[in-house]
Amino acid sequence: MNEKIIVVDFGSQYNQLIVRRIRTLGVFCELVHPDDVDPAKLDDVIGVILSGGPFSVYEDNAPIIDPKLYETPLPILGICYGMQLMARQLSGRVEARNQKEYGQAMIHIQGENALTDGLVSDQHVWMSHGDVVSLLPPGFVTTAFSKTTPNAMIRHLHKPWYGVQFHPEVVHTNEGMAMLERFVNSCGAKRDWTMQNFVEDAIRHVRETVKDDHVICALSGGVDSSVVAMLLHRALGRQVTPIFVDHGLLRKHEAEEVVKTFKDQYGMDLVKVDAAKHFLDKLKGVSEPEDKRKIIGHTFIRVFEDEMKKLKSVKWLAQGTLYTDVIESGTKTAQTIKSHHNVGGLPKDMKLSLIEPLSLLFKDEVRALGLVLGLPADLVNRQPFPGPGLAIRILGDVTCEKLHLVRESDHILKEEIEKAGLTQAVWQYFTVLTPLKTVGVMGDKRTYDHVVAIRAVHSIDGMTAVTAKIPYDVLTNIATRIVNEVDGINRVVYDITSKPPATIEWE
Ligand code: XMP
Repeated sequence: MNEKIIVVDFGSQYNQLIVRRIRTLGVFCELVHPDDVDPAKLDDVIGVILSGGPFSVYEDNAPIIDPKLYETPLPILGICYGMQLMARQLSGRVEARNQKEYGQAMIHIQGENALTDGLVSDQHVWMSHGDVVSLLPPGFVTTAFSKTTPNAMIRHLHKPWYGVQFHPEVVHTNEGMAMLERFVNSCGAKRDWTMQNFVEDAIRHVRETVKDDHVICALSGGVDSSVVAMLLHRALGRQVTPIFVDHGLLRKHEAEEVVKTFKDQYGMDLVKVDAAKHFLDKLKGVSEPEDKRKIIGHTFIRVFEDEMKKLKSVKWLAQGTLYTDVIESGTKTAQTIKSHHNVGGLPKDMKLSLIEPLSLLFKDEVRALGLVLGLPADLVNRQPFPGPGLAIRILGDVTCEKLHLVRESDHILKEEIEKAGLTQAVWQYFTVLTPLKTVGVMGDKRTYDHVVAIRAVHSIDGMTAVTAKIPYDVLTNIATRIVNEVDGINRVVYDITSKPPATIEWE
């Protein structure tokens, strides 16, 4: 990695967005905790962004940056709290304002500033602050103001130091990206960070770390684990053994496709473990959703450990941890709605060293990486599939017969969505087997069979979701096919609840 910009994290909700924006501009960028910034060790850093945050700089425990940063020649951009901190540390004054400013505001640019070079003087920006810089530090000038904020943009007269009271990273600041681009350019960035050179760096790093040792990775067939397996295969060839546990809770043809792709097509030393019977035995008679999830999680770990013992001298475990997991692991205070089981969540007492080659990437960057590594687009753009698989799409206890019903109905749904050209338009879709049985009539005969529900949603990250408006005729086709083709189902309903208050999966 030859050049990077760091974003010093003072806690703003927009921080990940700043990182994303800078990476989009072709410069590697990382979020760093203020305590981890040692101004004497910033050799590979070409610029520093001091982020916004929820504090007031004059509060007792307000976070700060080591003031030696201002002795380095590095360009600095302070955003909101970051600008106020820089102003205060350089002997300016910051005060609370009676009139707080939240939302879109108009600023008027006056005077020269590299960040606004060539932009028109009236700009819509996004403000979110209660404090203002009321006295500029020595050497600084104001280059933009709003009705309520006299120092909306400031800069140093001779050093590459800039402050903006608003948030250039959010889309509501119309020219925000242009301003960030100008900052990146003022850092002298080569702007050559691409997925291709990320791959080269990552491969080199993996080789140097692992040396001649052996690595295993859990492969689920999902995007993250597939990309990890592919990257490691590129870097280490036969030193990697992907382990694919077929827990019997997968969608139709899924297990065969994983084997076909990774073993047959890419020639990996894939170990496929057929553990369906084992999982079904453990799940027998269990109806409570959390119990099911936990049993599947634990059984997965046991099966994985057993397989590992069969392999000799494994030293490393590769996981598909993403950047968002790393960042968010600091705030695990939210209530457990569902205990998510991921194949990545293996216990740390496995006495293996961890290697997490995706830990600097966001989800869409992982997809881009998958494409660069040559994975097919339909795999890279797959919809999410929960670790506990179809078990949490069968309400009540799990049996072979019920698995058959949910798997076949799900497959018909998939075929019809594809046929209607809606694959990209719906974020996630699947069928759920309800424990309800209702009366129907087929060919003059009374039936008393299961009800299946269709769930189809739009979402960005799975945290919230709205129902996808699948056209009525497509839904009708799906219902007709399911009832006609899947023996044991005589009624289909459509779930039209958003998340919240419902969740995406039914269990
Ligand atoms: P919920 O049901 O919580 O789901 O609204 C949000 C998203 O997460 C997926 N999901 C899981 N993914 N392990 C996973 O890897 C799990 O245990 C799990 N449970 C839910 C779900 O499919 C949706 O995309």
